[in-house]
Amino acid sequence: MSNDPKKSLGIGLAGFGTVGTGVWETLERNADLIFNRSDVKVDIVRIAVRDLNKVRIEGVSEDKFTTNWQDVVNDPKVNIVVELIGGTDTAFDIVAAALRAGKPVVTGNKALLAERGQELFELSNQFNTPIHFEAAVAGGIPIIKTVQDSFVGNSIQSMVGIINGTSNYILERMTDAGLGYEEALGEAQQLGYAEADPTLDVNGWDAAHKAILLATLAYGFTVDHKQVYVRGIERVRATDIDFAKRLGFVVKLLCVVREHANGVIEVRTQPSFIPQSHILSSVNGVFNAVAVRGDAAGDSLFYGRGAGKDPTASSVVADIVEAALGLRHEGSHRGFLPYQQEGSVMSVEDTETPYYVRFDVNDEPGVVAEIANLLADAGIGISGMHSPVHPDEPDAEFVDMVFQLHTCRFGLLKETLKKVEALSCVNSRPVVFRIEDLG
Ligand code: HSE
Repeated sequence: MSNDPKKSLGIGLAGFGTVGTGVWETLERNADLIFNRSDVKVDIVRIAVRDLNKVRIEGVSEDKFTTNWQDVVNDPKVNIVVELIGGTDTAFDIVAAALRAGKPVVTGNKALLAERGQELFELSNQFNTPIHFEAAVAGGIPIIKTVQDSFVGNSIQSMVGIINGTSNYILERMTDAGLGYEEALGEAQQLGYAEADPTLDVNGWDAAHKAILLATLAYGFTVDHKQVYVRGIERVRATDIDFAKRLGFVVKLLCVVREHANGVIEVRTQPSFIPQSHILSSVNGVFNAVAVRGDAAGDSLFYGRGAGKDPTASSVVADIVEAALGLRHEGSHRGFLPYQQEGSVMSVEDTETPYYVRFDVNDEPGVVAEIANLLADAGIGISGMHSPVHPDEPDAEFVDMVFQLHTCRFGLLKETLKKVEALSCVNSRPVVFRIEDLG
């Protein structure tokens, strides 16, 4: 890169969907502001799209577009490659090719980094070319730079967060507007919050990918996604939301990253009951929040819009500027690189919390006793029981029965629930929520 601040840097975009158009618009709107603050000028010179007929912005000249991503990476005018296509295959090829060409990468692709980060960070190291990924976690909240730079002097004890805007939006609409799950998901898709494949939002994996990245940043080793426990919101029903409310809790899809005394790291994502009195309970709609506990800083909370065109573009643009400054002042920012080969991830079986468990049972005598006996045999204490509860479906032949359970190892609970599920009076797999005290 030239040291002449008047000279523009070439940006190549792979992907021009919701976030890509947001990046274009933000760079257009705030070009002077960005230059005044950073001495950086950028120009989007090449854009790869899947279908030339679906290009969405007026005023972007046609000759910038190509359907071949290699035209973007190999264009000598492209200094920085921005990957916004999502997925883990072609996106991997784009990022790897850019790194090999010594072109810094900006990506919002959490699935790619959580699942194939190890290979990409190795390339980043080998070719001395950074990967910037602020947009990959919590949309517009600058949590990546915060953990990496501002918390550099802290040992991070925990990070607990609500980091999927789509799930949080759906839960809020189910709670406050009484919407059905499908209807609420449709709204989230229309608003541009959901992933291209919304399965990842609702099955917990989008949030889990982000939690993996936070854990990797905080503890310096690439966390293997196969070792992480993930459940989404697909099985949450209005009954659970109502119950949570009555008991003084709110249902949230919660990610927990925590270091234990033996250095083992707990990483999990699951619908959870959190106390109404905790600040995270008021994080609603598309908003995300991450509570970070550092040994020096103590508790900090980062809150903002976790999805959507402009908030995500804000993070991408910040990374583009950082990448540009890195090119100008060579070596000033190496991006994130893991600094430990291995770390130890706690088996979910060994994690412990209290639980709320909903059983779908036949409405017949003895059901409560049968379930309670199995729990008692396992030594799992019951702190509350509610039955029967009317299910949401008006003509259902089953009833919901709800147990609140004392703290126990999750492994023990799982084993015991398998036995409960095998009872002839129990109709489906019990639904488990953790009760998190977040103290
Ligand atoms: N689909 C994601 C969400 C977008 O809903 O949070 C931001 O990663």
